[in-house]
Amino acid sequence: MSEMEIRRAVKERYSKIAVTAGSPDCGEAGCCGSHPISLGGSVPAEALAADAGCGSPLAMVAPREGSVVLDLGSGGGVDVFRASAMVGPDGRVLGVDATPEMVWRARETRARYGDRYANAEFRLGEIEHLPIGSESVDYVISNCVLNLVPDKLAAFREAFRVLKEGGTFAVADVTLHDVIPDAARRDMDSWSACIAGALLDVEYEEKLRAAGFEDVEIEHVSDSNIGEYPFRYHSSHIRARKPSSGHPRAR
Ligand SMILES: C[S@@+](CC[C@H](N)C(=O)[O-])C[C@H]1O[C@@H](n2cnc3c(N)ncnc32)[C@H](O)[C@@H]1O
Repeated sequence: MSEMEIRRAVKERYSKIAVTAGSPDCGEAGCCGSHPISLGGSVPAEALAADAGCGSPLAMVAPREGSVVLDLGSGGGVDVFRASAMVGPDGRVLGVDATPEMVWRARETRARYGDRYANAEFRLGEIEHLPIGSESVDYVISNCVLNLVPDKLAAFREAFRVLKEGGTFAVADVTLHDVIPDAARRDMDSWSACIAGALLDVEYEEKLRAAGFEDVEIEHVSDSNIGEYPFRYHSSHIRARKPSSGHPRAR
């Protein structure tokens, strides 16, 4: 199973969701679960229909008015639209996603609401090569995406690069309770459904620290079993901080 095969399987699944979400054709194409914490707020129905998150990054941080938020793997835009109201007209929210159909869907939704989400923008790109300037972002958020990325250290290094000194990383993601067998790891459906690419908590923390982050905290929001396998995974909330010195303590 190569990185290329993983990326293709992930894009196939999420382009299908982007095109069919909200229609009877969606079936069970989705998703990684549903938000265990509902934040309410004014999120467009078109974005909610494509919601494929597994937690609520914006339950972990409340971005200040005027701040800049970056959502990694923004999908249909549910957390971007939510953050848009929080940062207000002087702030900015950027969503980056690698699946063109997701970016098109999110941009269409934004356009449908006129100026209401004028501070939100969606860019096509990979998390491992972010189309975002260095030290330009106050908060990096993400919802059920990093487990899908084959090179997680590259993703964490990019998140570190774009954050300003003292910036916050607040991510909802799947983490594994048990080491899963190779057969389960190689199951492409399971990868694109957010399970097979997930890390153990200890691996997650190790990679975040290797990228330079500090104050890493992982909280389990809910537990589930992996299909027919006798293994468990968590829907987790993960927080970390870029040191104020700005110098990564990378190992
Ligand atoms: C499970 S969905 C979550 C979408 C959104 N965060 C939400 O909560 O609804 C995963 C999203 O991550 C995107 N994605 C996966 N791997 C990516 C990568 N390497 N770079 C950028 N986006 C990626 C997919 O295209 C998809 O839209």
